[in-house]
Amino acid sequence: MSKNAKKIALVTGGSRGLGKSSALQLAKKGFDVIITYQTKKEDAEKVVEEIKNIGQKGFAIQLDIASTTGFDHFKNEVLSLLDTHFEGQKLDALVNNAGVGVNMPFEQTTEEALDAMTNIHFKGPFFLTQKLLPLINDGGSIVNTSSGLARFSFAGYSAYGAMKAAVESLSRYQALELGERKIRVNTVAPGAIETDFGGGLVRDNKDFNQLIASDTSLGRVGLPDDIGAVVAFLCSDESGWINAQRLEVSGGFKI
Ligand SMILES: NC(=O)c1ccc[n+]([C@@H]2O[C@H](COP(=O)([O-])OP(=O)(O)OC[C@H]3O[C@@H](n4cnc5c(N)ncnc54)[C@H](OP(=O)(O)O)[C@@H]3O)[C@@H](O)[C@H]2O)c1
Repeated sequence: MSKNAKKIALVTGGSRGLGKSSALQLAKKGFDVIITYQTKKEDAEKVVEEIKNIGQKGFAIQLDIASTTGFDHFKNEVLSLLDTHFEGQKLDALVNNAGVGVNMPFEQTTEEALDAMTNIHFKGPFFLTQKLLPLINDGGSIVNTSSGLARFSFAGYSAYGAMKAAVESLSRYQALELGERKIRVNTVAPGAIETDFGGGLVRDNKDFNQLIASDTSLGRVGLPDDIGAVVAFLCSDESGWINAQRLEVSGGFKI
């Protein structure tokens, strides 16, 4: 049995893409996993089945990360799940992954679009983490999700990239303040990965895929497991001395 057996991770946006991979990689490391989905309940249920097939407990709960008004209800759902299925045990890892992108030139970016990016990528994870802190064990791990777009710039991502930069800054402050409880906080900054993200642009548009691959040292775009494995590592004891770091996982894009 793995050294991480009986640990519990919560992964937001675990129904698809990077969150799904993170959930499965965590299960392979011996974590029981609670995932969230926004609308795709059936996809989430399939991920739960896969977690169970790996031999771990799996559960799915609905969450809209953009709406803080639902966070009390969400916290109560997590609490009730922990009481019912985990004998009141607490979470060991929180992966703030849920999110969508918007591609809009700076000049045309509306207040509504900026608010959406703020709520989904910054305000949501900020207050969800705050809300769930009492449910996280001392010595636990939090992984926030940024993007390579916080380091380099692609036209059309000013709102998205700036929010991801804010996430990176927030992670360092969280690491500083939560060190008291021995909770580590790190940021994973994926490069372009083949998922549904941005309408599946990286996966489905061959020209764009080639463009990214040609500027990547390892010569290809990323796949979900390239990220999920790193997230699982950052949640595990093996990374116990890694704290307050931004880890770009892009195969060496634009270096
Ligand atoms: N893919 C990339 O190239 C890339 C690169 C850098 C960073 N990222 C970041 O990685 C994270 C995951 O991206 P991905 O590629 O896995 O995207 P994805 O395949 O589109 O999956 C998005 C996930 O987030 C959930 N979600 C979306 N909006 C939500 C909301 N308002 N509230 C709660 N959950 C919501 C979705 O739930 P449903 O399934 O129910 O819709 C789904 O589980 C995001 O934070 C993204 O910014 C991605």
